[in-house]
Amino acid sequence: MTGDLSPIDKAKFVAARRAADLVEDGMRVGLGTGSTAAWLVRCLGEAVRDDGLKIRGVPTSARTAALAREVGIEVISLDEARWLDITIDGADEFDADLNLIKGGGGALLQEKIVATASDRMVVIADAGKEVEALGAFPLPAEVIPFGWQTTRALIEETLVGMDVLGRDITLRMNGDRPFVTDEGNHILDLHLRRIGNPRQLALVLNQLPGVVENGLFLDICDTVVVGHGDGRVELR
Ligand code: 5RP
Repeated sequence: MTGDLSPIDKAKFVAARRAADLVEDGMRVGLGTGSTAAWLVRCLGEAVRDDGLKIRGVPTSARTAALAREVGIEVISLDEARWLDITIDGADEFDADLNLIKGGGGALLQEKIVATASDRMVVIADAGKEVEALGAFPLPAEVIPFGWQTTRALIEETLVGMDVLGRDITLRMNGDRPFVTDEGNHILDLHLRRIGNPRQLALVLNQLPGVVENGLFLDICDTVVVGHGDGRVELR
């Protein structure tokens, strides 16, 4: 499954493999999105196939749903599951309080809904994702397409009063067209460089009409499994 991996892919793989050990027979499992989460889905698929692990997975994106089915994981919807035992997902940044920036893969809305509906959220990440303060990675905000430029202007205005270092906002593109999420929305990437008060920012952003959700995951993650390029794994 792994072949010759670069140090970063090895770090993602070992984190995913360690987190897969947390999944037990009969669990309903939230399956994250992104390259690290894809390793997790492959590891779980292997356990289903080779060890007879019986789980039902709730994917956080169409991409993950396709991969989960391909590797033999039974896929159900969140509404069928109602509640999940565990969600395992990647992240773009995490800090010492296990707060996160997510959404680099554009799946933040479904990821946040699924993680919030879980007894436990475990993040899998390479060590490079750990930061002192969130915000070097652009913060994604999912916005509805109607009037997105007006929403961007509103966010720009709102950022003036916020404890951030940068205020550029870009529309995420997919080639020469705006990126479209699984829910049919667009993503604005907020280049803030440093977020002084993530809690205040998350609340204020979600109050703006047009903003569906933001990529700050605060008080949601319980554990981060950190992988290193030399194969070491640490739990936070
Ligand atoms: C997708 C996400 C991903 O978990 C995040 O972007 C990390 O991705 P990767 O594992 O590929 O580095 O939030 O919306």
